[in-house]
Amino acid sequence: MGKFIVFEGIDGAGKSTQVNLLGEWFREKGYDVVITKEPTDTAFGKLIRKLVLTGGKEGIIDGARISHEAEALLFAADRAEHVNKLIKPALKAGKIVISDRYFYSSLAYQWARGLDLEWLIDLNRFAIRPNLVILLDLPVKESMKRINGRDIGNEFDRIFELQKKVRENYLKLVERFPEIKIINAFEDVETVHSQIVALVEALLT
Ligand code: TYD
Repeated sequence: MGKFIVFEGIDGAGKSTQVNLLGEWFREKGYDVVITKEPTDTAFGKLIRKLVLTGGKEGIIDGARISHEAEALLFAADRAEHVNKLIKPALKAGKIVISDRYFYSSLAYQWARGLDLEWLIDLNRFAIRPNLVILLDLPVKESMKRINGRDIGNEFDRIFELQKKVRENYLKLVERFPEIKIINAFEDVETVHSQIVALVEALLT
């Protein structure tokens, strides 16, 4: 069996940068690595981008178009395909799987939308638990600065409030899911990377 590592955090926490750095770190050590993400690039993921996320605004949820329940079900459907077709086979083949987001995103974001946490946990019960979940945590003010390039205009306040709730939700989830480890993402890229490496090395020994 390989190892399954997930990155989580609010938008603008620096997940994709750290995912790539960790992927490189593994490759240099000779590991076979699969880097993946949710929503995926499959037809389900595309449907999510079309129905749930605002076009071209890079991951800031609009949320106004379909019901929150339908949104959660779409993310879960995408994830079911992801788990069965990619994650499980790769782990079985002994690979390292690194995913940018997983079911914890559904818990943090769809819970922030007002859905029931227990229902969300039940809905995602099929999703195998990772060996390690790295939560990149930073104040929303800082993450919003980082994604400032994204055109959110007069949506700022609404998105700020949502992201604040999502961040709080992630921190609450740590108590329930001990595989989640918090990393202070306010530090510079290299410092964050070395803290992640320390966690990963502990996992490999
Ligand atoms: P993001 O990682 O920004 O993807 P990309 O930049 O490739 O479009 O994710 C898109 C958004 O979807 C992000 O705001 C978090 C949200 N999301 C959920 O609300 N629930 C989920 O289950 C997942 C996986 C993501």
